[in-house]
Formats: sequence, C-alpha cells, structure tokens
Amino acid sequence: MKALCWHGKGDVRVDTVPDPKIREPRDAIVKVTSTAICGSDLHLLDGFMPTMESGDVLGHEFMGEVVELGKSVTNLKIGDRVVIPFTIACGECFFCKKGLTSCCDRSNPNHAMAEKMMGHSPSGLFGYSHMLGGFAGGQAQYARVPFADFGAFKVPEGLTDEQVLFLTDIFPTGYMGAENAGIEPGDTVAVWGCGPVAQFAIQSAWMLGAGRVIAIDTVPERLEMARTQGRAETIDFMKQSVYDTLQEMTKGRGPDRCIDAVGAEAHSHGSFDAVLDAAKVKMFLGTDRPHALRQAIYCCRKGGTVSVPGVYLGFVDKVPMGAFVNKGLTLKSGQTHVHRYLKPLTEKIQKGDIDPSFVITHKAPLVEAPSLYKTFRDKQDGCIKVVLKPN
Ligand SMILES: NC(=O)c1ccc[n+]([C@@H]2O[C@H](COP(=O)([O-])OP(=O)(O)OC[C@H]3O[C@@H](n4cnc5c(N)ncnc54)[C@H](O)[C@@H]3O)[C@@H](O)[C@H]2O)c1
Ligand SMILES: [Zn+2]
Ligand SMILES: [Zn+2]
Repeated sequence: MKALCWHGKGDVRVDTVPDPKIREPRDAIVKVTSTAICGSDLHLLDGFMPTMESGDVLGHEFMGEVVELGKSVTNLKIGDRVVIPFTIACGECFFCKKGLTSCCDRSNPNHAMAEKMMGHSPSGLFGYSHMLGGFAGGQAQYARVPFADFGAFKVPEGLTDEQVLFLTDIFPTGYMGAENAGIEPGDTVAVWGCGPVAQFAIQSAWMLGAGRVIAIDTVPERLEMARTQGRAETIDFMKQSVYDTLQEMTKGRGPDRCIDAVGAEAHSHGSFDAVLDAAKVKMFLGTDRPHALRQAIYCCRKGGTVSVPGVYLGFVDKVPMGAFVNKGLTLKSGQTHVHRYLKPLTEKIQKGDIDPSFVITHKAPLVEAPSLYKTFRDKQDGCIKVVLKPN
C-alpha cells in the first residue's frame, strides 16, 4: 500500500510499504477514506519529537471502512464506517475505566521508554514515535487499529467524512481544552493560537458558557476565521502587545480562563524569552518553545485557570512559577481522552450545533501530502486544515 513515511527532520515521503495485518484478536484493519494533517504532525516534521525512526508511517487523524476483523471484535462488521480516536486505549484498565483514555496503561508496548522520560507512560498513539508505541499511522491506504472493539466508533447514517473526521482528535481536543479551563457562565476566555485546535476551543468555549472569547494569533486568515466562524475578538501578537491589550479589554483584571492552543513551537515578536528558546532548541539545550504558555500564565487573572491543549514534548524553562503560585492559578492539560467525547460531540454535529468541516481549506490525494505538510507548516496558500484521500 501507499503510506506517508517520516525520514528525518523536514523529510516526509509517500512510500510503498507492506499492508497492515491483524496481529491481535481485538484488532481491525481499516481502509482509510479520509485522514488529516495536524499541528502535532508538525512537531514530527520539525524534529521536535524523539524516538522517530526512518520509515515510520505518519498520521493520527483518520477514518474509514472496516475491511478485516480480529476474532474478538464482535461489535463491528466488515463494511462499517468508523472514526478512530488518535489515542489508543484498552477500555479496561484503571485509567480507561475513569475515562482517562489518553492515559491507558495497556496500549503502549514501549512504555519503559516513556517512563524514563515522563515517570509514567501515556497511552499509545498512532503514528507518533516509538516512545509512544511505534504504531503505524493512518496517513495511508490502510491502517491497523488495536483495541478496535473499544476505540472504533461507528459513524451514524447521514454524516459526511468531513463532518466527522475531526472527532478523531481536534474537535474533542478543543472541547477538552475548554472544559479543562473550567469556564463559568459569562467568563472571558482568551485562546492562544487560531489554528485548527484553537478554532474548536473557541467554538467549545461558547458551548460551555463563555461570555466573551478573545483569540490571539498573527496569521490573517486564521484570525479572520476566529472572528467570522468563532465570533471571537482577536489580537495580532505581531502588531499588538498581548498583555497590554488583554488588560485593556478586561479593565485591568485579565481574562478569567486562558487556553494555550499553540504548544511547543510558539513564535513571538522578538521578545527576549522567545529568542532564548529558539537558540536553546537549535543548540540542543532545550526541547520546546513555551512562549505562549508563559504569556498565558502572566496574563491570566488572579484565581483563574490556564488550560493547555497545546502539546509540549520535553522540558520547558522560564515558566513564571512565581506568578502562577502568587496569583493562585489552576493548570490543566493532557492528550485528549477522545473516547469519552465521541458520542456527545457526534450528537452536537447531528443536531446542527456545529459543522466541524468549517476548518478545512485543502483536500488532496495522499501523493500531495509531502508538499501539503510544508504548505500547512508555513501557513501558505491560506492553509488551515488539510484532508487527504488515500484511496
Ligand atoms: N492535547 C492534545 O491531545 C492535542 C491534540 C491535537 C493537537 N494538539 C496540539 O495543539 C497545538 C495546536 O495544534 P494545531 O493543529 O491547531 O496547530 P497549528 O500549528 O496549525 O496552530 C498553531 C497556531 O499557533 C499560532 N501561534 C504561534 N505562536 C503563537 C503565539 N506566540 N501566540 C499566539 N498564537 C501563536 C500559529 O500562528 C498557528 O496558527 C499543537 O501543539 C498540537 O500539537 C494537542
Ligand atoms: Zn492531531
Ligand atoms: Zn486502558
């Protein structure tokens, strides 16, 4: 089959690789009908994520048609149309039973590698390094889905791929980002970033009762989408001081809830901390560029919450812990527990509360993936979200 493979920093290619096979009784093989490129994939493209190996198949946002089933999967049948959560989870362990499926204790065969770096291992992820399981991803014609009886979610009749594909990750991720912010009715919510995850965090903030949403980015079409689709007020961090503007907009109090939907690869308008981060990453003295996280902590009102759906990969420094403690802030984060949001968010799509396809700007066959990774990374051609059709 054809699959998009990682070959090193800045180097992804469509290769011919062996078709996936059923290996465990709870596996399914899915023929991929739609798959998307995510901001998390950029951390792989840009070489931020350790333990990638040349030839690894990428992609963690995918859906398709069941073509083969392991003998223990009795709740699915051949031909079912399914959406696959990017976090792989067994459904039976201590964490899965609590609904914390991105913390599943049984889905990462390489947990020892992750334990060394993080103390404990998160769940396995599709197409996201050997430390997180070494699972082949879904930017491919076919994919093997472990624990399919728990993970694969049957798509109800009448919904298109474009409407449900983002249930795999970014819609639940934006929603959990807003939920983790602990929004109270009428709260002012500031969202760092206007990428796809941020767009869903903005939509979800309204669903959860925000009174006002302020979104921060610098890419014109992303700011525009936040204003038109997201009904947000916006700040361009290259043209305005984020702190001063937020202070002004909130009459000196600061936003009640701050969501960092930027993560490890923040840019900035030449502020000292950001220049230092970039230099440290280049010299292998640092792993992440946490400028947005620092700013969110600094700007958040006293007693407020900072929610971090943005992904960080290693060790971050110069985090204003003094501000965090003395202002009495709460911090929440996590890879998304996708499974628990599948049903409720599907119902929102069915009711017409939201049509997630609004973020899609590019649709293309898999062969165009290498160039579209770069278009998406460099924010060229108005690119906000890419959907690939591998078959
Ligand atoms: N927690 C999870 O489970 C989960 C799931 C999916 C994605 N993510 C993470 O969410 C983050 C966003 O993903 P995405 O797909 O939207 O990616 P993206 O790269 O398209 O979006 C990031 C946006 O942040 C903006 N930005 C950069 N520096 C900024 C700054 N200093 N202030 C404000 N905005 C800034 C960029 O211009 C860009 O529009 C990534 O870190 C990704 O890894 C997390
Ligand atoms: Zn993703
Ligand atoms: Zn589990």
